[in-house]
Amino acid sequence: MSTKTTFSSKIGLIAATVGSAVGLGNVWRFPSEAQGNGGAAFLVVYIGCVFLLGVPVMLAEFSLGRAGGSDAVGSFKNLTPHKKWWIIGIVALIASYLILSFYMVVTGWTLEYMWHSITGSLYDGITGAAGSPAVNQQFTEKMHQMTSTAISPLIWTYIALIANLVILLRGVQKGIEKMANILMPALFVVLIIFCCMSLTLPHAGEGVLFFLDPDFSKINATVVIDALGQAFFSLSLGMGILVTYASYYPKDTMLTRTAVTVSSLDFLVSFMMGLIIFPAIKSFGLDGDSAAFQGTTLIFVTLPEVFHSIGATQFWSILFFFLLFVAALTSTISIAEVSIAFIHERLNLSRTKACLYVIIPVFFTSAVCSLSLGSLMWLKVGSMSVFDFLDTLTTDLLLPVSAIFICVYVGWILPKDFIKKELTNYGKFSSWMAPFVQFLIKYICPVLIALVLISKLIDTISK
Ligand code: ALA
Repeated sequence: MSTKTTFSSKIGLIAATVGSAVGLGNVWRFPSEAQGNGGAAFLVVYIGCVFLLGVPVMLAEFSLGRAGGSDAVGSFKNLTPHKKWWIIGIVALIASYLILSFYMVVTGWTLEYMWHSITGSLYDGITGAAGSPAVNQQFTEKMHQMTSTAISPLIWTYIALIANLVILLRGVQKGIEKMANILMPALFVVLIIFCCMSLTLPHAGEGVLFFLDPDFSKINATVVIDALGQAFFSLSLGMGILVTYASYYPKDTMLTRTAVTVSSLDFLVSFMMGLIIFPAIKSFGLDGDSAAFQGTTLIFVTLPEVFHSIGATQFWSILFFFLLFVAALTSTISIAEVSIAFIHERLNLSRTKACLYVIIPVFFTSAVCSLSLGSLMWLKVGSMSVFDFLDTLTTDLLLPVSAIFICVYVGWILPKDFIKKELTNYGKFSSWMAPFVQFLIKYICPVLIALVLISKLIDTISK
């Protein structure tokens, strides 16, 4: 095995891990999920999911990665040699690779939108009053041109891939950590600027109320299922990322403090996105149509409509797509790192070769995802495009399966005091949370995740 690299500073390891967690899940998926599930009611359930279930699973992954000291597969092999538990790592590895293929396409779209915001062409020829069907129609057509034609989205996907490659080739400290140290503070500054803008728009208070004043009668099984799925995706659980990143944590890292900090910052970003999106959309009366909140439409149609309706359109548009690109880039880097670490450590190849072996095939797989939305629309799995199929397969099936087995492995297979040892840095201090976390990992998390998985599967099959 190669000499183990570690993050060089505490701030750096937090920034890199938060960078992995904060992504399209926060900026785009969270507001759509909150809107579809009753706003504030969803927020309350989501907070419970993040802190009662997300943090323990995150701690299981951190402990596994730091104690195993290797990639997502090797860590299992190191902790339980001669046993087949490393197959869990393979599931996470496959999930992360498939996610990378479609996530890279969306990262490309954000770059494309940022470029067209800079040149102003995103807003060229748009006529009509704010919130009118005509304006909506014009932005919808622009979205189709930019995301579903053959060449242009592909070129931008490739630019995003090259940006990833450049950072990944520089390694863990000079690439991943340095990038996160620069980009994460920038992301928070941009978020604060957007919150100030959005909260001072006319009628912003109505949007804030929808987001923050809970109507508990709206909480039902679907809300809980969606909140848990959202929490797991947003915290990057079950993807092998946290196992891989924790293998770069120095041995004196305080895992509980790190998990709570990462989860809180990730939650804060989602919360701030709620404070940006709901007031802005309410202010321009764009909340009447629930389609306005659906993933792609929210980001690439509804928000450009908002920017078109306020002063300094280009400024806000560039800033927003920059924010989205930063969020997506720090996540794609971490998703790719799962496979890179695997190839680097398992096959004993140089980091450069490992990066190329991972990124070059993504040029092909992301092209298939991108083209399946446009010129290869016939390329379907059932009724879904390859893009949507991979999204559903990974988020609804592979991630929960991997998270369940990680809990079973850490809670039932590894020694009883494994979690306690990891959370106390091998007895250097005490941790009142350790028995509580152990209980959640052993009994509560696997059962609840399994229930969510089964409900989702029944739902998908019955559709
Ligand atoms: N956790 C990453 C996101 O939220 C994958 O996008």
